[in-house]
Amino acid sequence: AKPRILSLDGPAGSGKSTVAGIIARRLGCLHADSGAIYRSLTYACMQLLGEQASPEEFGRVFLEQTPDPHGFALRVDYDNGKQLHYLNEEELGLKIRTPSVTARIRYIADHAQYRNRVNELLRELGAKTALIVDGRDIGTVVFPDTPFKFYLDAAVRTRAERRRKELIESGMEAPSLEELEKQIADRDEQDRNRKIGALQIPPGAILIDTSNIDRDMVVSGILAHLQEQF
Ligand code: C5P
Repeated sequence: AKPRILSLDGPAGSGKSTVAGIIARRLGCLHADSGAIYRSLTYACMQLLGEQASPEEFGRVFLEQTPDPHGFALRVDYDNGKQLHYLNEEELGLKIRTPSVTARIRYIADHAQYRNRVNELLRELGAKTALIVDGRDIGTVVFPDTPFKFYLDAAVRTRAERRRKELIESGMEAPSLEELEKQIADRDEQDRNRKIGALQIPPGAILIDTSNIDRDMVVSGILAHLQEQF
C-alpha cells in the first residue's frame, strides 16, 4: 500500500507545527515541516550571499549552484521524529527562525525552482514513509491526492500572541504584540498572493478555527476526524 500523507495547511501562527508534531508522535510517523525547509534554504542563501543581497541575487543562486539533491550542501534529516537541517554538516537549530531569515523567505518561496525542489524532497520522503506535513500549499500542490487534508486558521491577534510566547520561550527577542500583528498580517498577504504555491484552503480540507480552542482540542478534533483510518 502507498504510505499515507496528512496535510496541514494554514497561515503563520495558526498552530500547525505544534499540532503536526503531536499528531506525528501519536500516530508514529514523521512530521515534515515544509516552512522549516524554506527557512533553511533562505538561511543557506544568506550565508552564501550576505544579508544585504537583493531578491534577484537570491533567485539566481539556485541556477548557479552545481546540482545536489537538496541544494547548497543542505541536508534535511529526521531524528526521533524531529526534522533537522544541516548546512555543510552543521545543524542549524534556531538559526532558521530569526526575524532576518523570516524577512527574506519570500526571496526563496516566490521562486518556482525553489518550490519544486522542496516539493520533490517532500514527495520523495512521502513515497517511503507515512507523513504529517505542515505548510501553505501541501494539500493543494504538494500532495493534492491525499484524502487526509486539514486547514488551521486563527485571528491575527491570537496568532501574534502565540508567536510572542514562542519567541520568549525560545529565548529570542520578541517585538511588541502590535509589531507582531503587523508582521503576521504582512506575511499573510505575501503567502496568500504568491503566484505559485499560495496559501489557500485545499478543496475537501477540514477547516479548524483555533482562535478559541487550545492545542489539545485541535489534536483530538483531527484524530476524531481520522477515525483511525489514517
Ligand atoms: O511555517 P513557517 O512560518 O515556518 O513558514 C515560513 C514561510 O515559508 C511562510 O511564511 C511561507 O512564505 C513559506 N512557506 C511556503 N510554503 C510552504 C511552507 C512555508 O511558501 N509550504
